[in-house]
Amino acid sequence: MAILDKHKILETNATLLLIFSFLVVTIGGIVQITPLFYLENTIEKVEGMRPYTPLEMAGREIYIREGCYTCHSQMIRPMRDEVERYGHYSLAAESMYDHPFQWGSKRTGPDLARVGGRYSDQWHVDHLRDPQSVVPESVMPKYGFLEHRKIDGKYIGDIMAANAVVGTPYTEEMLANAQADFRAQADPDSDYDGLLERYGDKVSVRNFDGQPELTEADALVAYLQMLGTLVDFSTFTPDPSR
Ligand code: HEC
Repeated sequence: MAILDKHKILETNATLLLIFSFLVVTIGGIVQITPLFYLENTIEKVEGMRPYTPLEMAGREIYIREGCYTCHSQMIRPMRDEVERYGHYSLAAESMYDHPFQWGSKRTGPDLARVGGRYSDQWHVDHLRDPQSVVPESVMPKYGFLEHRKIDGKYIGDIMAANAVVGTPYTEEMLANAQADFRAQADPDSDYDGLLERYGDKVSVRNFDGQPELTEADALVAYLQMLGTLVDFSTFTPDPSR
């Protein structure tokens, strides 16, 4: 066939082949990349998403510090086995306030993207203290020391301000009240109206680790208990235009 004969010219001339390959890759690249400049946002807006509260943010910092991500992912892939085990597949919007994201690439333990609300606070405290006490075959290390490390949220405003710089919509008011909101969330006897006003009335206010002191365990459990709970999947419908 004539067209194939012409193609032979390309296949037998290395320089021509290089030039034409380069052209094809360039056109392909432009077709893929240019639309991204015209989209306002590649992340679909989803109702329910809000920035982390100061206490949850502190828990997230502990999660990262302790390397929980080396054994746990936080991204449910859209495949049936995962969706049946962990729940609705993760949406891009659900990690839009994660700097850095915690998708992970290793699952020695289960995915944690929707672990929030699956167990009681007490279960988490027991499990962190001694995983084998609730899951005998567990290989997860013990994190009991977290309940002895007191925290006061002194620097949480700075961490939130750093997140604001990279795009998390923390308001001046949220930053100014960071430490107060931090304490209020772990103390149901406190005046936490401001916290709910700023972050929404679905925020859980409890003594997460059950001790009178505010500790790292409070922060970590507060974080674990909200993971994957912000979007209401009984009303969520994906935007078909994306
Ligand atoms: C050495 C790997 C390893 C590390 C590090 C690790 N885990 Fe785990 N984790 C596991 C394994 C394995 C399981 C499953 C058995 C169990 O429930 O203990 C698990 C289970 C869990 C569960 C229960 C999940 C479910 O759906 O049942 C939670 C919550 C959890 N880990 C949180 C953490 C947190 C928080 C950290 C960091 C402080 C952490 N893990 C660090 C291995 C690890």
